[in-house]
Amino acid sequence: MDKILVSGGRRLEGEVRASGSKNAALPVLISSLLTAEPCSYESIPDLMDIQTVLKLLKGLGVKVDGDLRSGRVTLAAGRVDKLEAPYDLVKTMRASFLVLGPLLARFGEARVSTPGGCAIGARPVNLHLNGLAELGAEIQMTHGYVEARAKRLRGAKIYLDLPSVGATENLMMAAALAEGSTVIENAAKEPEIEDLASALNRMGARIQGAGSDIVKIEGARELHGLSHRVIPDRIEAGSFMVASALTRGDVLVRDVRPDHLDVFVLKLREAGVECSVEPDKVRIKGNGRVKGVDITTLPYPGFPTDLQAQMMVLMTVADGVSVITENIFENRFMHALELDRMGADIRLEGNRAVVRGVASLSGAPVMATDLRASVSLVLAGLVANGTTEISRVYHLDRGYEHIERKLSALGAEIKRIKGQ
Ligand code: EPZ
Repeated sequence: MDKILVSGGRRLEGEVRASGSKNAALPVLISSLLTAEPCSYESIPDLMDIQTVLKLLKGLGVKVDGDLRSGRVTLAAGRVDKLEAPYDLVKTMRASFLVLGPLLARFGEARVSTPGGCAIGARPVNLHLNGLAELGAEIQMTHGYVEARAKRLRGAKIYLDLPSVGATENLMMAAALAEGSTVIENAAKEPEIEDLASALNRMGARIQGAGSDIVKIEGARELHGLSHRVIPDRIEAGSFMVASALTRGDVLVRDVRPDHLDVFVLKLREAGVECSVEPDKVRIKGNGRVKGVDITTLPYPGFPTDLQAQMMVLMTVADGVSVITENIFENRFMHALELDRMGADIRLEGNRAVVRGVASLSGAPVMATDLRASVSLVLAGLVANGTTEISRVYHLDRGYEHIERKLSALGAEIKRIKGQ
């Protein structure tokens, strides 16, 4: 397995471009299952998770063309000859579970492995399944697989107990081909939901209200192909913004939608970070030690759980105390244990982490445990005294496109050691 070595103490400066959003691209690529016509996509990031979802779609019989190095992919689901998403793919990448809604809506049946848990939590799918049952699907659970059937899904009023991103996406795609109209109440409001809805509407779906907590979908008989460019990755962009603040740098992050990061920018400013925002770029200047601020993760537009680990690193070297409350996932503080090994002072109390700022971190061998925890260890390495060696970087490769190349270009001393 590869490792990444980071030598701390370098100030980052220059420009970096955010890649296309992983969490927008995954459901949008899967939505190509809803039509037999070719669907062309741009700004698709070259990530392990994207390669996994393309492998899954190919396994279903979808024709996959294009080259991830160009960010362009064309999918054609004209000859889908398999309606099953196997356990080995779904367990490596939970978003594979999103094929359930489209397969059911277009072909009337699907057999999809349940994703099971992951490092950050149990990750249940009850909201997905209850919603599909509301749309008329017959659902059975056998041997760890969901087996679903429906002659034709019919529109319904669905209330989500939690504003689940994945459940909203699965149900929006299923309802797009259902008979009649569907209302999803307490829907997730993330920008990735809006991006999926705009892609579906380009395919001939009639979806209103995406991005709000009430989404209305008028079912269509069939959908057609489209061309779509996914939105920038707000979480990758936020990670680079923290890198600049941490190293007291001066970094311009281009191709970003700052309006997708409102609360995050507010919190950086509250901590004393200088953020200049324009419609498609953000300049982050770190001027001295930041102040400890409290963080509470919430569904969008609240503080994003996917930026909690990155913000925690900034708080470990802030002046004062920061209380970080994680409300979305039940086990998303594993990076704290590794940061403590680098000299941070973090006390965990249930879903709260009390972070007391220290003068500095010290480089150490650390282990990545999940995607966003892995990038927080890279960020800590940028500002720690000495060298940090990060193992299990396959977690990092799932969600960050060529991160050592992008950080080196900003002046970081970072390199990848190829695994044996
Ligand atoms: C999406 O996961 C993202 N993944 C996650 O990003 C992100 O952290 C999460 O949304 C929250 O914003 C993708 O978009 C591929 P949820 P998802 O369903 O859809 C509970 C990353 O790092 N829940 O909104 O799985 C669940 O347990 C990843 O890129 C149920 O109880 O998140 C969790 O506590 C990590 N029942 C909460 O809702 C359900 O049926 C939010 O989950 C579904 C979810």
